[in-house]
Amino acid sequence: MQNAKIVAVANQKGGVGKTTSSVSLAVALARKKKRVLLVDSDPQGNASTGTGINIRDIKKHLYHSYTEETPLSAVFLTPDSKWKITVVPSSIDLAAAEMELFPREEREFVLKKLLDPIRQDFDYIIIDCPPSLGLLTVNSLTAADSVLIPMQCEYFAMEGLAQLVSTIRSVKKGLNKNLYIEGLLLTMFDKRNRLTFQVADEIKKHFGEQLFKTVIPRNVRLSECPSHGQSVIEYDIKSTGAKAYIKLANEFIKRQAA
Ligand SMILES: Nc1ncnc2c1ncn2[C@@H]1O[C@H](COP(=O)(O)OP(=O)(O)O)[C@@H](O)[C@H]1O
Ligand SMILES: [Mg+2]
Repeated sequence: MQNAKIVAVANQKGGVGKTTSSVSLAVALARKKKRVLLVDSDPQGNASTGTGINIRDIKKHLYHSYTEETPLSAVFLTPDSKWKITVVPSSIDLAAAEMELFPREEREFVLKKLLDPIRQDFDYIIIDCPPSLGLLTVNSLTAADSVLIPMQCEYFAMEGLAQLVSTIRSVKKGLNKNLYIEGLLLTMFDKRNRLTFQVADEIKKHFGEQLFKTVIPRNVRLSECPSHGQSVIEYDIKSTGAKAYIKLANEFIKRQAA
């Protein structure tokens, strides 16, 4: 049995579409009969609630795995959705894990060690990172094979990107030498805005083939679906948002074969 590919969805900017992309890609891959684990590594728990998990009802989540060595398989949840994914939920407690990890030896390798024993059980493991470059994100990058970077086409996008790329570089140097950039994904693309195209051109110039050809449009269905505890693919499969993420999953799988 092959080991799962682990993809960290990261960008230290908030509100760029990390969670939306993690959940939608996870479900789009599950729809293609892939076995997918979604790890919610953000204390805000948006990926957990967005898949219909009521985080107030659960007793064990990623925090307990980080700090009490509870195996991930003991915190797995299967949301009640048509296309089955498995979720490692998180909650606000996870914010404390960063502090608690700090004095520990090998503190960057905790998530990697937690994922090792379950890698054979999945085809893809997708980690939704928090909007920071702190220890939770560093743990995700250390555990991952690749990083998927969602970004919004706005004026300061490139600045933040330089910082992220430099973090990826230092993780590569010291912690995970095989880490690579899976791709940059343009999200909330607004065709009516000229600046969008300028920023997209700039990103393309710098990153060329690393930019996914699939672009995620701004689509109200994508912002509505989390409050229904559903991915956009369940909520409205005909929407432009759902179609875009299904297309992204196809492009993503094709990249693995290339
Ligand atoms: N393509 C999109 N079109 C419209 N709204 C979107 C889109 N992608 C994300 N959103 C909304 O924007 C907000 C931020 O997205 P989110 O995925 O939570 O970002 P992040 O995880 O990077 O903070 C959320 O309210 C989400 O529903
Ligand atoms: Mg998020």
